[in-house]
Amino acid sequence: MNQPISISPDGIKYPLPKEEDYKKEMARIEKLVAQARKKGQEIVVVMGVGFVGSVMAAIIADTTDKSGKSGKFVIGMQRPSTRSYWKIPKLNNGVSPVKAEDPEVDPMIRRCVLEKKTLVATFVYDVLKLADVVVVDVQLDYAKNELGNVRNGEVEMNALEESFEIIARHIPPQCLVLIETTVAPGTTEQVALPAMRKTFRQRGIKSDPLIAHSYERVMPGRDYVASIRDFWRVCSGVNEKAKRRVVKFLNEVLNTKKFPLTVLDRPIESETAKVVENSYRATILAFLDEWSLFAERNGVDLIKVIKAIKLRPTHSNMIFPGPGIGGYCLPKDGGLGVWANRHILGFEDDTFRMTPLAIDINDTRSLHAAQLVRDALRNMSLPIASAEVLILGASYREDVGDTRYSGSEILIRRLTEMGAEIRVHDPYVDQWFEFENQEEHSINNKSVFFRNQKKLKDLRVQKDLIKSLKNIDALVLAVRHEAYLSLDPSKVIKAAGHPIAIIDCFGILDDDRIRHYLKMGCEVKGLGRGHIKRLKDQVSKNKI
Ligand SMILES: NC(=O)c1ccc[n+]([C@@H]2O[C@H](COP(=O)([O-])OP(=O)(O)OC[C@H]3O[C@@H](n4cnc5c(N)ncnc54)[C@H](O)[C@@H]3O)[C@@H](O)[C@H]2O)c1
Repeated sequence: MNQPISISPDGIKYPLPKEEDYKKEMARIEKLVAQARKKGQEIVVVMGVGFVGSVMAAIIADTTDKSGKSGKFVIGMQRPSTRSYWKIPKLNNGVSPVKAEDPEVDPMIRRCVLEKKTLVATFVYDVLKLADVVVVDVQLDYAKNELGNVRNGEVEMNALEESFEIIARHIPPQCLVLIETTVAPGTTEQVALPAMRKTFRQRGIKSDPLIAHSYERVMPGRDYVASIRDFWRVCSGVNEKAKRRVVKFLNEVLNTKKFPLTVLDRPIESETAKVVENSYRATILAFLDEWSLFAERNGVDLIKVIKAIKLRPTHSNMIFPGPGIGGYCLPKDGGLGVWANRHILGFEDDTFRMTPLAIDINDTRSLHAAQLVRDALRNMSLPIASAEVLILGASYREDVGDTRYSGSEILIRRLTEMGAEIRVHDPYVDQWFEFENQEEHSINNKSVFFRNQKKLKDLRVQKDLIKSLKNIDALVLAVRHEAYLSLDPSKVIKAAGHPIAIIDCFGILDDDRIRHYLKMGCEVKGLGRGHIKRLKDQVSKNKI
């Protein structure tokens, strides 16, 4: 039988470890841990080295004690799945498994792995036996069974419960288990604690596991590292000892002098804080969806309206929603609360109205962007079927390479359903897993909500912008990546070879650029940009 392989985004193939590799790997780590102990370092295992765990692991490994010596030895522990195993050899070579704009990420990982030698990565669960602290940074998915109906979904608890069980089977009794994963409120006390306590009792351990919760507020992007290290944290523990331990640990690894910790009484409060925080943001984005439509129909430029409102200090956090609200957190976190209310906390009544509605609106916003593409092409007497459409931006937000729940995905799926031929460009995304792996069974597989999706498996992200513009019929500005903010309309049209439809989904074009495109015979439309018709009339009357 062929040995399964894991392929990194830069195309390198890594064979997954075989049965006989585990023993050797554990011996390697044991040796490193023995050396670290001799230096008086605390052993920290970070479980899951994804977007959060890999950078958190480096931050912990980079910390020094009062005398300036490295105080922690960090083992990044990662499941050897075909999708994620490559992160281990990459990390062990001093290479970051996440791509980010933040210039601190790459050197920090390189420094900790190759120079300070305070960071290693491995695939063996047995390293949990060596831990003084375990930081849990695995994902917790929320499966949505329908597009635009978060209520008809569920939290994928099995994998997380399995992780708790694995941790409890291996860790020393006095090890601190810090759950950073965003969980459904009630998980730490009502799921993790009883499950881990049961395993402890089976192991003959009389004390309770020391479990704490402190959620991440990381923003992958230009301030990736600072958004973890130099940022306020909320935490709590299942008992006083766990609380004391988590406060001590976070004070040692984060910049809590400048960004003090908030310690809450119980983990359910820390868990709820995270879910409310993200539901709040999802809601203030969602409510602008209806005003965006209003603006398009009534000659209003919502971008200028928001700018005017934001000058009022009480309203300065108003944000224009692009084509759908993506990222790993905002589309699911409110759902964790709705789900927990019934399935962990046991309430039958429907407490939540606003939170699920906001998520449903955000999840379907990009379908309207697809209508704008269709209408702009129609106004140029071109059918959407067979039209060549270039999408600028695959990731969920500007200047990051994370495509999870990106608005562009739904937009592309709908356009493909309507028969369009899709090209995509993104400077940060090498592989778009949501399309490449769409035939695999996965809860994140959105192809099931649309027809005619087969060919999208072969969709590849273009890197040469000028080349990808050649002969297109429509251009969609979908993400506010730096490279797209000041594109010169003359160059775009020259590269395309003829006038095209331009759809601005993120308030990227100023009025001068819109006029420039219109003067060159293009059709321009934009989410929330009802004033374009006015500019078009001005241009055609030659007033400007
Ligand atoms: N990405 C963000 O911007 C962000 C921001 C704030 C909070 N969070 C939260 O942080 C948590 C982690 O998110 P992420 O973005 O890093 O996810 P991710 O998918 O990038 O990383 C999770 C990693 O954990 C690994 N993993 C899963 N099960 C494992 C197991 N049993 N043992 C070892 N490794 C395992 C996966 O293979 C993966 O590499 C989530 O709860 C998320 O909601 C994420």
